[in-house]
Amino acid sequence: MSVLADTWILGIESSCDETAVALLRNGTEVVCSLVASQAAVHRRFGGVVPEVASRQHIESIHPLIAQALVAGGIQPRELGAIAATYAPGLVGALLVGLVSAKAAAWALDLPFIGVHHLAAHIWANVMANPALTCPFLCLLVSGGHTALVRVKGPLDYDLLGETLDDAAGEAYDKVARLLGLPYPGGPEIDRLAVLGNPKAFKFPRAMRYDGSLDFSFSGLKTAVRLMVEKHQQAHMPVPVADIAASFQAAVVDVLVAKSIQAAEQTGITHLTIAGGVAANSALRSQMAAACNERHLALTIPPLSLCGDNAAMIAGLGHAMWRQGVRSPLSLGARSRLALPSLASGDTDKR
Ligand code: KG4
Ligand code: ZN
Repeated sequence: MSVLADTWILGIESSCDETAVALLRNGTEVVCSLVASQAAVHRRFGGVVPEVASRQHIESIHPLIAQALVAGGIQPRELGAIAATYAPGLVGALLVGLVSAKAAAWALDLPFIGVHHLAAHIWANVMANPALTCPFLCLLVSGGHTALVRVKGPLDYDLLGETLDDAAGEAYDKVARLLGLPYPGGPEIDRLAVLGNPKAFKFPRAMRYDGSLDFSFSGLKTAVRLMVEKHQQAHMPVPVADIAASFQAAVVDVLVAKSIQAAEQTGITHLTIAGGVAANSALRSQMAAACNERHLALTIPPLSLCGDNAAMIAGLGHAMWRQGVRSPLSLGARSRLALPSLASGDTDKR
């Protein structure tokens, strides 16, 4: 009788200000997902300082890898592959996880798999809902990206629309700063919005009715700034909770409307959400209500798979490993890189 051995994938993520390491068993079981957030270090600068982020990653990465292996109760040689984010992100930060993964894979003679960070965010939905089949739609909302994507496979994505200026998460962070809230601003505004009136101010919903699947959030940010200045010039207290609630209402309104429009235009009936802003409570509940009304299926990852984490890197790494993908050790870090697409041959950009 033969007993099938477990397949272990080690995932490594260091694209921005979270050092993360995860251990995945047989593609679905997240045995360990460690995230060392640097938010407290960057907070005093009001945003991520790239050089500081790289140094923090260097300090955290090896203890996290050791801790993950101990948590899984396995020896390094028992791993099936090592997957690490190689793009997009801060190059200095990416390099720390990427070089660690490549060095370990070389020393242990294991396959190395370079993973696209945004594709991994999207693939978190497949991890959350293994019954999810391609093609499905994804609203990708992170700190640096906002897009609507048709997902055709682990390495095959069609960009249907994207932001022309600020990303949704970026707008949250900038508005939080205007309101005097600490970095990262998304969770702060989410918490505060519950205490405010979302109808107190009618902020612009740019491109809401233009028929495209693109977004624009920079005008909304400016509208918030003008409202804050108006109160300050009149020596009135800034109604922080009402502004937070009204700002969030405008962002979520557009994100939900465009996602529904994408479903109508493509005829795809399963929607998903990915990225840090997928943790937003209003977005989660309003998207659920809109999908329910139109009999569309919706998958949203648990909070642990929304913000930056390495379980999603291991998850997409496993799907790629099963397809026979092996990356060369010459693979470099890239600050910008489109989602892979079979049609345009983008998968071979690596
Ligand atoms: O995906 P992510 O962790 O990192 C990137 O790949 O960019 O996204 C981080 C972004 C930040 O802008 C943060 O403020 C935002 O996600 N975010 C939120 C919430 N939690 C995190 N935005 C709105 N509501 C939240 N609850
Ligand atoms: Zn991310």
